[in-house]
Amino acid sequence: MKLLFVLLVSCAWTLIGAQNYYQALMDYLENRLLAIEDRMQMWHDHAHQYHTEMLDFKKLTSEAMAGLKNDHSMIFKDLEGASARVNLMERELEYVETQNSPRACVNMADKVIEQEAWGLQERDAVEVEDDWEELQSRVSDCVEIISGFRSVKILKRIGSHKGMWTRDPKSSKVYIFNGTSGDTVHEFKSVRDFSRSLGVMGSRTIHLPFEWTSPGSAVYDGYLYYIKQKTDTDVQVVKYDLRSGSVTDTAMFPMERHASLYTLNPETVADLAVDDEGLWLLFTPTDSEPNISVAKMDTATLDIEQIWDTRCPRDNAEAAFVVCGTVYVVYNTRLASRSRVQCVYDVNDMMVSEEAPLLYFPRRYGAHASLKYNPEEKQVYGWDDGYQIIYRLTMKRKLLA
Ligand SMILES: *[C@@H]1O[C@H](CO)[C@@H](O)[C@H](O)[C@H]1NC(C)=O
Ligand SMILES: *[C@@H]1O[C@H](CO)[C@@H](O)[C@H](O)[C@H]1NC(C)=O
Repeated sequence: MKLLFVLLVSCAWTLIGAQNYYQALMDYLENRLLAIEDRMQMWHDHAHQYHTEMLDFKKLTSEAMAGLKNDHSMIFKDLEGASARVNLMERELEYVETQNSPRACVNMADKVIEQEAWGLQERDAVEVEDDWEELQSRVSDCVEIISGFRSVKILKRIGSHKGMWTRDPKSSKVYIFNGTSGDTVHEFKSVRDFSRSLGVMGSRTIHLPFEWTSPGSAVYDGYLYYIKQKTDTDVQVVKYDLRSGSVTDTAMFPMERHASLYTLNPETVADLAVDDEGLWLLFTPTDSEPNISVAKMDTATLDIEQIWDTRCPRDNAEAAFVVCGTVYVVYNTRLASRSRVQCVYDVNDMMVSEEAPLLYFPRRYGAHASLKYNPEEKQVYGWDDGYQIIYRLTMKRKLLA
């Protein structure tokens, strides 16, 4: 009996134990589930938070992007404004350059005239006029100097890098010299014909009996004057009748071998120029002579009437031309930059030194191979890196005039 009781009690204990055990397991599982639920809730909360944070971030970045875009367009506008201002300033600078130009070359003769001018101004105006009448009849009636550039016209680009073109002041005909030497010249009826032509099509091709050397020719009243260099020592000026097609005269010049007039255009042995007073020859007697000489020539006989040393250096000279008996020498640098008239020489000694301008040429493509003045139109025909350009000039009277 006692044994049965013990068995029953132990059995009951076992049952109770099992029940306890299951209860504990259930509790445990329930707790785990709650914990998982909690964690899921937490994850959910976190995900939600991330999502809102993402949205906020997106909003922020899009705002920042819009701001940046705005800034960019503002900077762009600022830049545009700045570049416009730079352009304006450049133009103003150019203007100032042409207006208040320091003189590069002041010659002794000019200084004397300058003093005379001050002396004259203090005297009676009528007396000055009387003095002037006398002086004018003694020298010439051409009393203008260049004061600036009125306009630039780029006609077209034909031919090679170097060359020259010019217009006969006494007719409308235009002459093209392609390259730095040759035996042909192209003649157009007018500047308009030339600008409308395709290359040299439609022009009259003139075959010369002797080759021209140097882009230094001149055309005046139906005659072509050009430089001929048979050997290194024999330099001649040839006068050629463009109407009859024959050589009417030649004149010899004693010039040293390999001498070239402008150091930036070594192909130019000598340069012929036409102005209101006639025909001029710009040359250098020897290659060791540092300055440019100018000779006044008789157009009929090719005789030299007078020679002057301009005291304008050949070094860094690009071209030169003569206006009203005044030689204007144009300088540049070896790496072509802005061409400028930096030395002026008046053969009549009529220019007051203050008047001699430092003139900057308007923007260009490369370097001038030649510059030819036309006294009738008061403009310069330039050959710039193969481009044919017309510079229209503004003139003023010399102070003594
Ligand atoms: C000019 O000369 C160059 C070479 O010297 C040649 O190639 C060119 O065709 C010439 N142009 C004209 C228009 O004659
Ligand atoms: C060349 O001209 C300068 C002035 O520009 C002058 O000082 C110099 O003496 C001249 N040289 C000769 C050889 O004439």
